[in-house]
Parts: sequence; structure tokens; C-alpha cells
Amino acid sequence: MKKIVLSYEEIQKRCKLIGEQLATRYRFNDTPPVFIGVMKGAIPFLTDLVSYVDIPLIIDYIQVGSFNGTESTGTVVLKKDVSQDVRNRDIVIVEDIVDSGISMTFLVDYFKRKYQPKSVVTVALLDKKCNRKVPFELDYSGEIVQNEFLMGYGLDYRDLYRNTRYVFVPTEEEIKTWDELLGIK
Ligand code: IMP
Ligand code: MG
Repeated sequence: MKKIVLSYEEIQKRCKLIGEQLATRYRFNDTPPVFIGVMKGAIPFLTDLVSYVDIPLIIDYIQVGSFNGTESTGTVVLKKDVSQDVRNRDIVIVEDIVDSGISMTFLVDYFKRKYQPKSVVTVALLDKKCNRKVPFELDYSGEIVQNEFLMGYGLDYRDLYRNTRYVFVPTEEEIKTWDELLGIK
């Protein structure tokens, strides 16, 4: 039996709560904030989150890589940069999950160095707080989770199963089936 960690309704509740707080934060801005989704995992969360941020805003994406199967490799590489200059902008970095904290630390540092934004805020739907390898505190987090491998709603196993409306813990059986499907022994 699949263990559901967050149902669709629970996810929407968190998106609404954080989305409304962010709308309040930027309501009287002179320039629209730029919400930057970290591909590919944050795409479903970013999409639902911004639907509750009822102010003019800009959406962009960045892509980094560090995961290999179910383990973080610890080294972050930039795969795709944002499509615009975010100098002097209020930016909101949106992630699916923060685990070791290495990716978010890399991203915050990357934006500060390259673009000198006006401000940087970090958001993630899930926070594996107990698993940090570097100290990192999110500004907004949806749910603190235990150190288990999670999937669905953006979170993947070897790029599979980002497409569910809920977050779940896969069984060993399921992982075996997917490995076979991908031709991995
Ligand atoms: P960190 O650099 O270790 O904090 O890892 C962050 C990235 O690892 C996230 O953006 C996810 O893409 C990936 N990740 C961390 N935990 C999980 C998980 O349980 N399932 C799937 N991907 C994960
Ligand atoms: Mg990610």
C-alpha cells in the first residue's frame, strides 16, 4: 500500500496559506516580484502556489542538478539559467523540497553573486529539516517531513512519476518495477 505523505487537498491548503502571505508581502511593490521555479521538481508547486498570489508577478525557471536515483550527489551544477536579468528585483526561489540544503544554498549564493537582486526569499513545499548537511533555513515551508524518499507532485525517481497530484513514499516493489522499466539492473 502506498503511503501518502500529502494529499492534493493538503497541498492546496499549504499553497493558499503561503501564497496569501507572499501576496501580502509584495502587494505594495513598485516592481513585480519574480517567482523562480527550480526545474523540474518545483513546476507543479510553483503553478499551484502562484494561483493564490493575487498580485502582478513574473514567473521564471532555473534548472540545477544534484540527485542521482534516490541519493543526493552533493555537487550542484547549473543546467539552465533564468531567462531574464533579475538585478534589483525581489526574487522568490521556489523548490519542491529542501533536503541537505546544498541546492538552495548554491542557488541563493548564485543569484546574489550574479544578479545582486533587491531581495531573496526561499520557499519549498517540503522540508527534510533533519537531513541538512549545511545550515539552511527556509523563509516559507509547507510541511516538515522525515528522512524518507518521497515522490509525486514534481518529485521524481529517475525522472519518473512527477505527475501525481499527491506526495507519496514508494515501496521497494514499485522501485524494482520502475528499474526494470528503465532497463536498470
Ligand atoms: P538538497 O540539495 O539535498 O537540499 O536537495 C534538493 C533537491 O534534491 C530537491 O530539489 C529535489 O530535486 C531532490 N530531492 C531531495 N529529496 C528528495 C526526495 O525525497 N525525492 C525526490 N527528490 C528529492
Ligand atoms: Mg528539485
